[in-house]
Amino acid sequence: MRAIALPSGWKLFAALAGLTLIMTAVVLAAHPLGSDGLRSAIRATARSSFALFLLAFLASSLVALVPGPASRRMLRERRFLGLAFAFSHTVHGVLIYRYAQQFPELFWAGRTVTSSLPGSIGYLFLLMLTLTSFKAPMRLLGGRAWKALHSTGMWVLAGVFCLSFYNRIPMGGWYPLAFALMFAAMALKLTAKLAHYQRRSGAALS
Ligand code: HEM
Repeated sequence: MRAIALPSGWKLFAALAGLTLIMTAVVLAAHPLGSDGLRSAIRATARSSFALFLLAFLASSLVALVPGPASRRMLRERRFLGLAFAFSHTVHGVLIYRYAQQFPELFWAGRTVTSSLPGSIGYLFLLMLTLTSFKAPMRLLGGRAWKALHSTGMWVLAGVFCLSFYNRIPMGGWYPLAFALMFAAMALKLTAKLAHYQRRSGAALS
Protein backbone atom coordinates (compact mmCIF):
# COMPACT_ATOMS: atom_id res chain seq x y z
CA MET A 1 0.00 0.00 0.00
CA ARG A 2 1.41 3.41 -0.93
CA ALA A 3 1.77 6.01 1.79
CA ILE A 4 -0.23 9.22 1.27
CA ALA A 5 2.16 11.95 0.14
CA LEU A 6 1.87 15.01 2.34
CA PRO A 7 1.91 18.30 0.45
CA SER A 8 5.09 20.33 0.48
CA GLY A 9 6.17 23.86 -0.42
CA TRP A 10 3.41 26.24 -1.49
CA LYS A 11 0.91 23.34 -1.52
CA LEU A 12 1.64 22.77 2.16
CA PHE A 13 1.17 26.50 2.81
CA ALA A 14 -2.14 26.51 0.89
CA ALA A 15 -3.37 23.43 2.81
CA LEU A 16 -2.50 24.94 6.20
CA ALA A 17 -3.95 28.36 5.28
CA GLY A 18 -7.14 26.64 4.05
CA LEU A 19 -7.42 24.65 7.28
CA THR A 20 -7.00 27.86 9.31
CA LEU A 21 -9.84 29.52 7.37
CA ILE A 22 -12.10 26.47 7.70
CA MET A 23 -11.41 26.28 11.45
CA THR A 24 -12.17 30.00 11.85
CA ALA A 25 -15.41 29.70 9.86
CA VAL A 26 -16.52 26.66 11.91
CA VAL A 27 -15.80 28.41 15.23
CA LEU A 28 -17.66 31.55 14.13
CA ALA A 29 -20.59 29.51 12.81
CA ALA A 30 -20.81 27.53 16.06
CA HIS A 31 -21.62 30.70 18.02
CA PRO A 32 -24.52 33.13 17.68
CA LEU A 33 -23.41 36.45 16.13
CA GLY A 34 -21.71 38.45 18.85
CA SER A 35 -18.62 38.88 20.95
CA ASP A 36 -18.38 35.23 22.09
CA GLY A 37 -17.85 33.88 18.60
CA LEU A 38 -15.19 36.48 17.81
CA ARG A 39 -13.33 35.82 21.06
CA SER A 40 -13.44 32.06 20.49
CA ALA A 41 -12.12 32.52 16.96
CA ILE A 42 -9.37 34.82 18.28
CA ARG A 43 -8.39 32.11 20.77
CA ALA A 44 -8.59 29.35 18.14
CA THR A 45 -6.33 31.23 15.71
CA ALA A 46 -3.86 32.00 18.51
CA ARG A 47 -3.70 28.23 19.07
CA SER A 48 -3.27 27.31 15.39
CA SER A 49 -0.57 30.00 15.20
CA PHE A 50 1.10 28.53 18.26
CA ALA A 51 1.22 25.01 16.77
CA LEU A 52 2.65 26.28 13.47
CA PHE A 53 5.09 28.58 15.24
CA LEU A 54 6.43 25.71 17.37
CA LEU A 55 7.13 23.61 14.26
CA ALA A 56 9.05 26.46 12.57
CA PHE A 57 10.81 27.48 15.79
CA LEU A 58 12.03 23.95 16.58
CA ALA A 59 12.82 22.59 13.09
CA SER A 60 16.58 23.22 13.16
CA SER A 61 16.95 22.13 16.80
CA LEU A 62 15.16 18.84 16.13
CA VAL A 63 17.46 18.08 13.19
CA ALA A 64 20.44 18.69 15.48
CA LEU A 65 19.10 16.71 18.46
CA VAL A 66 17.00 13.96 16.83
CA PRO A 67 18.13 13.71 13.19
CA GLY A 68 15.85 11.65 10.99
CA PRO A 69 13.53 11.92 7.98
CA ALA A 70 10.75 13.63 9.96
CA SER A 71 12.93 16.37 11.48
CA ARG A 72 14.75 16.91 8.16
CA ARG A 73 11.41 17.27 6.38
CA MET A 74 10.29 19.79 8.97
CA LEU A 75 13.44 21.81 8.33
CA ARG A 76 12.94 21.66 4.56
CA GLU A 77 9.40 22.96 5.00
CA ARG A 78 10.32 25.54 7.64
CA ARG A 79 9.77 28.53 5.36
CA PHE A 80 6.25 27.38 4.48
CA LEU A 81 5.43 26.50 8.09
CA GLY A 82 6.58 30.00 9.03
CA LEU A 83 4.44 31.56 6.33
CA ALA A 84 1.46 29.46 7.42
CA PHE A 85 2.03 30.76 10.97
CA ALA A 86 2.08 34.32 9.57
CA PHE A 87 -1.20 33.62 7.74
CA SER A 88 -2.88 32.21 10.85
CA HIS A 89 -1.68 35.16 12.89
CA THR A 90 -2.94 37.59 10.26
CA VAL A 91 -6.39 36.02 10.74
CA HIS A 92 -5.86 36.46 14.54
CA GLY A 93 -5.11 40.15 13.85
CA VAL A 94 -8.11 40.67 11.55
CA LEU A 95 -10.42 39.10 14.15
CA ILE A 96 -8.92 41.30 16.90
CA TYR A 97 -9.52 44.36 14.71
CA ARG A 98 -13.18 43.40 14.17
CA TYR A 99 -13.63 42.66 17.87
CA ALA A 100 -12.12 46.06 18.82
CA GLN A 101 -14.35 47.81 16.26
CA GLN A 102 -17.58 46.05 17.17
CA PHE A 103 -17.12 45.75 20.93
CA PRO A 104 -14.70 48.49 22.00
CA GLU A 105 -15.89 48.47 25.62
CA LEU A 106 -15.26 44.70 25.90
CA PHE A 107 -11.97 44.91 23.99
CA TRP A 108 -10.53 47.64 26.23
CA ALA A 109 -11.83 46.13 29.52
CA GLY A 110 -8.67 45.24 31.45
CA ARG A 111 -6.45 46.20 28.47
CA THR A 112 -4.24 49.23 28.02
CA VAL A 113 -2.01 50.44 25.22
CA THR A 114 0.96 49.35 27.40
CA SER A 115 -0.40 45.84 27.95
CA SER A 116 -0.88 45.53 24.18
CA LEU A 117 2.73 46.55 23.52
CA PRO A 118 4.37 43.08 23.53
CA GLY A 119 1.75 41.76 21.09
CA SER A 120 2.14 44.82 18.86
CA ILE A 121 5.94 44.42 18.82
CA GLY A 122 5.33 40.76 17.97
CA TYR A 123 3.26 41.82 14.96
CA LEU A 124 6.00 44.22 13.84
CA PHE A 125 8.51 41.35 13.82
CA LEU A 126 6.03 39.04 12.15
CA LEU A 127 5.68 41.58 9.34
CA MET A 128 9.45 41.94 8.94
CA LEU A 129 10.02 38.18 8.99
CA THR A 130 7.28 37.60 6.44
CA LEU A 131 8.49 40.30 4.05
CA THR A 132 12.09 39.12 4.25
CA SER A 133 11.21 35.49 3.56
CA PHE A 134 10.98 36.33 -0.15
CA LYS A 135 14.02 36.28 -2.40
CA ALA A 136 14.42 39.97 -3.36
CA PRO A 137 14.24 41.46 0.19
CA MET A 138 16.34 38.52 1.43
CA ARG A 139 19.11 39.41 -1.06
CA LEU A 140 18.80 43.10 -0.27
CA LEU A 141 19.30 42.40 3.43
CA GLY A 142 22.30 40.10 3.02
CA GLY A 143 22.97 36.78 4.76
CA ARG A 144 24.24 37.98 8.14
CA ALA A 145 21.54 40.62 8.70
CA TRP A 146 18.87 38.20 7.49
CA LYS A 147 20.02 35.55 9.98
CA ALA A 148 20.18 38.08 12.82
CA LEU A 149 16.70 39.42 12.02
CA HIS A 150 15.11 35.97 11.75
CA SER A 151 16.77 34.63 14.87
CA THR A 152 15.82 37.75 16.90
CA GLY A 153 12.29 37.79 15.47
CA MET A 154 11.62 34.13 16.33
CA TRP A 155 12.85 34.67 19.91
CA VAL A 156 10.71 37.80 20.28
CA LEU A 157 7.65 35.88 19.06
CA ALA A 158 8.49 32.99 21.41
CA GLY A 159 8.68 35.57 24.22
CA VAL A 160 5.26 37.00 23.31
CA PHE A 161 3.67 33.51 23.32
CA CYS A 162 5.37 32.76 26.63
CA LEU A 163 4.08 35.99 28.17
CA SER A 164 0.56 35.56 26.76
CA PHE A 165 0.30 32.07 28.29
CA TYR A 166 2.04 33.08 31.51
CA ASN A 167 -0.49 35.88 32.09
CA ARG A 168 -3.31 33.37 31.67
CA ILE A 169 -1.93 30.68 34.02
CA PRO A 170 -4.28 31.81 36.86
CA MET A 171 -7.20 30.98 34.53
CA GLY A 172 -6.14 27.29 34.69
CA GLY A 173 -7.41 25.06 31.86
CA TRP A 174 -4.82 24.47 29.19
CA TYR A 175 -2.79 27.63 29.93
CA PRO A 176 -0.24 26.09 32.36
CA LEU A 177 0.41 23.32 29.80
CA ALA A 178 0.73 25.81 26.93
CA PHE A 179 3.17 27.91 28.96
CA ALA A 180 5.19 24.79 29.86
CA LEU A 181 5.25 23.76 26.19
CA MET A 182 6.58 27.14 25.06
CA PHE A 183 9.10 27.23 27.89
CA ALA A 184 10.33 23.69 27.10
CA ALA A 185 10.64 24.59 23.41
CA MET A 186 12.85 27.56 24.32
CA ALA A 187 15.00 25.34 26.56
CA LEU A 188 15.29 22.74 23.78
CA LYS A 189 16.40 25.38 21.28
CA LEU A 190 19.03 26.71 23.67
CA THR A 191 20.27 23.16 24.30
CA ALA A 192 20.59 22.52 20.56
CA LYS A 193 22.50 25.80 20.15
CA LEU A 194 24.85 24.92 22.99
CA ALA A 195 25.48 21.44 21.54
CA HIS A 196 26.20 23.06 18.17
CA TYR A 197 28.76 25.50 19.64
CA GLN A 198 30.41 22.73 21.69
CA ARG A 199 30.71 20.54 18.59
CA ARG A 200 32.18 23.46 16.62
CA SER A 201 34.71 24.43 19.27
CA GLY A 202 35.62 20.73 19.74
CA ALA A 203 36.22 20.41 16.00
CA ALA A 204 38.29 23.61 15.97
CA LEU A 205 40.48 22.33 18.83
CA SER A 206 41.14 18.91 17.33
C1 HEM B 1 2.64 38.25 17.99
C2 HEM B 1 1.67 38.80 18.70
C3 HEM B 1 0.66 38.02 19.47
C4 HEM B 1 0.71 36.74 19.97
C5 HEM B 1 1.85 35.74 19.86
C6 HEM B 1 -0.58 36.48 20.60
C7 HEM B 1 -0.91 35.30 21.23
C8 HEM B 1 -2.10 35.06 21.87
C9 HEM B 1 -2.39 33.92 22.67
C10 HEM B 1 -1.40 32.81 22.97
C11 HEM B 1 -3.67 34.01 23.09
C12 HEM B 1 -4.42 33.01 24.00
C13 HEM B 1 -4.98 31.88 23.20
C14 HEM B 1 -5.70 30.89 24.08
O1 HEM B 1 -6.70 31.25 24.71
O2 HEM B 1 -5.26 29.73 24.09
C15 HEM B 1 -4.22 35.22 22.53
C16 HEM B 1 -5.52 35.65 22.70
C17 HEM B 1 -5.90 36.93 22.45
N1 HEM B 1 -5.15 37.93 21.90
FE1 HEM B 1 -3.34 37.70 20.98
N2 HEM B 1 -1.38 37.58 20.47
C18 HEM B 1 -0.65 38.56 19.82
C19 HEM B 1 -1.06 39.85 19.57
C20 HEM B 1 -2.21 40.39 20.05
C21 HEM B 1 -2.54 41.82 20.02
C22 HEM B 1 -1.63 42.94 19.47
C23 HEM B 1 -3.77 41.95 20.58
C24 HEM B 1 -4.61 43.17 20.81
C25 HEM B 1 -4.16 44.39 20.98
C26 HEM B 1 -4.23 40.62 20.95
C27 HEM B 1 -5.47 40.33 21.49
C28 HEM B 1 -5.89 39.09 21.90
C29 HEM B 1 -7.22 38.80 22.42
C30 HEM B 1 -8.39 39.81 22.57
C31 HEM B 1 -7.23 37.45 22.77
C32 HEM B 1 -8.43 36.64 23.31
C33 HEM B 1 -8.52 36.81 24.78
C34 HEM B 1 -9.56 35.87 25.38
O3 HEM B 1 -10.68 35.84 24.92
O4 HEM B 1 -9.19 35.16 26.33
N3 HEM B 1 -3.26 39.71 20.62
N4 HEM B 1 -3.24 35.85 21.80
